[in-house]
Order: sequence, then structure tokens, then C-alpha cells
Amino acid sequence: MLVTGKEILQDAHKNNYAVGAFNVNNMEIVQAIIEAAEETNSPVILQASQGGLKYAGVEYIAELGKLAARNAKVPVAVHLDHGTDFDQVMLCIRHGFTSVMIDGSRFDLEKNIEVTKKVIEVAHAVGVSVEAELGKIGGTEDDITVDEREATFTDPEEAKRFVDETNVDYLAIAVGTAHGPYKGEPKIDFDRIKAIKEITNIPLVLHGSSGVPADSIKEAVSLGINKINIDTDLRIAFSNAVKEFIKENPENIDPRKILGPAKEAMKEAIIEKMQLFGSAGRA
Ligand code: G3H
Ligand code: 13P
Ligand code: ZN
Repeated sequence: MLVTGKEILQDAHKNNYAVGAFNVNNMEIVQAIIEAAEETNSPVILQASQGGLKYAGVEYIAELGKLAARNAKVPVAVHLDHGTDFDQVMLCIRHGFTSVMIDGSRFDLEKNIEVTKKVIEVAHAVGVSVEAELGKIGGTEDDITVDEREATFTDPEEAKRFVDETNVDYLAIAVGTAHGPYKGEPKIDFDRIKAIKEITNIPLVLHGSSGVPADSIKEAVSLGINKINIDTDLRIAFSNAVKEFIKENPENIDPRKILGPAKEAMKEAIIEKMQLFGSAGRA
């Protein structure tokens, strides 16, 4: 069933577990996620990145996501990931997304509050949930020192002000993760997660969660992370399976035969995440 992000994440917040938000770019990925969610009886969030919207187009992503959600036996939200501006968020809302992220993290605090508030006023009026970002979650390829990275971490006091002034539904925080494949092991500031949770008391979002060791994910969830964004780990599962199939079947030209095992490999990876996050059995 198609539901709002808030409906899914309020339950996760109340009962101390996390829900996976997986990036979708085509039909096979959507099917892999939904099949994994149904097999584990887990709520789930399908999310479209900037690259995903560019690749498939907002209409395809929206219709695929909504179709899958409506037919699913578990609660599913269709979410815009890292929304860039007011107009893009409005476009996604018009196409039926039930959750949107407005990413104002490139602005200073005042401007971030301003752009977030403007989106929330409209989104809430039409029953759509909103995620915002405070602090800066960069990419693993960003060439910055540890000190520079820590300077971009979310400040708990600022988070409190941000949540009070914007009335945001869930907040993405910068606590040491980054987008893309890690070179070493990410160092997560667990005390910061705890402090932000205590002071804001809303669902918190962890971006760049691929490649984070299972015990770190478990600890982050126990301290208040309720939405976990995963893209890279799914890309790895999918592309490895495609490469392996082509290597073993170089003569095969059927896209369905090539993508079928990739979809299955992705589904297995997602099932593992759902069990780790604690969303399995929560639908
Ligand atoms: O924002 C996180 C995504 O992993 C970015 O992916 O290349 O589809 O925009 P993209
Ligand atoms: P990863 O690709 O590092 O899993 O990050 C995904 C993400 O945060 C999408 O917003
Ligand atoms: Zn992200």
C-alpha cells in the first residue's frame, strides 16, 4: 500500500528500528525492493535521486513507484532524495510522491531554514512528508581532512532550532558517513546521534550507509536512526551479477536473462539490510 514517509517513520521512531530507503532507477530495482519487503514483511521507502530522475524521468519513476506501492502487501512510500529546490519538490508532489527531501545543506543555517520552511508549508498542506538535511553529508571521493569533515557535522543545538522552526518530519544528519564506496572504515560519531535524538525527538536519517559495518548500523539504530539510505551496496550487487552472467554466458543476448540474476542478487542484499535495520516483521 502507498503511504506517507511520516506514517512509516513515526512507527520506526516510536519502536526504535530503522527502515531502508533504497534508490530506484528502473523496473528491476523497484521489483527487487518490493519483493524483498514482502518476503520479510517490512515497510520500505523507494527513493529517486537526482541521477535517477535524470535517467528515467520523473513520470516513469513516479508511476513505477506508485504502481509497485499500490500492489504491495506492505507499506511503501515514494520519496524524492536530495531534492534541490522548491520547483523540483513541487513537481514530485504533483506526480504523487508521498515524501520529499529538500536538501538545503549547501546554504547557511538561516537560508536552510527558509527554503525548508517554504517547502514544508506546501507539502504538509497536501499531506506529503518532508526530510531536510542539516550539516553536510559529502561524498567519499571528497578530498578533505578529518578536521574539515568534522566541521561539517550536525550541531545538536542547531538541530533543535531547525526542527522547532521548520516543523520538519525527519532530519538527515552528518555524523561521519559519506556517499559512495568507502576507502577505509567510516568513523561514526555515535554520541552526536544520541545528542541530536535527545534534543529533537524526531526520526533521524543516515545517508551514505552502504559499506557501514553491521555493528555500527545496529548501534546507530539503537541511538535513534530511523531511515537508512542505501544506494552503492545495491549497485555493487546488481553490477557484479551482470558481469558474472555475461562472463559465463557471453553468447546470451536476452536482456531478461542478463538482468534477472541481477535483480535476484539485489533482492538478497536488500533482505539482509531489512533484517539488520530491524524493519523485518514490522509491516
Ligand atoms: O544521493 C545519493 C545517490 O547515491 C546519488 O546517486 O548518481 O543516482 O544521483 P545518483
Ligand atoms: P550510499 O550510496 O553511500 O549508500 O548513499 C545513499 C544515499 O545516501 C542516498 O541519499
Ligand atoms: Zn544521500
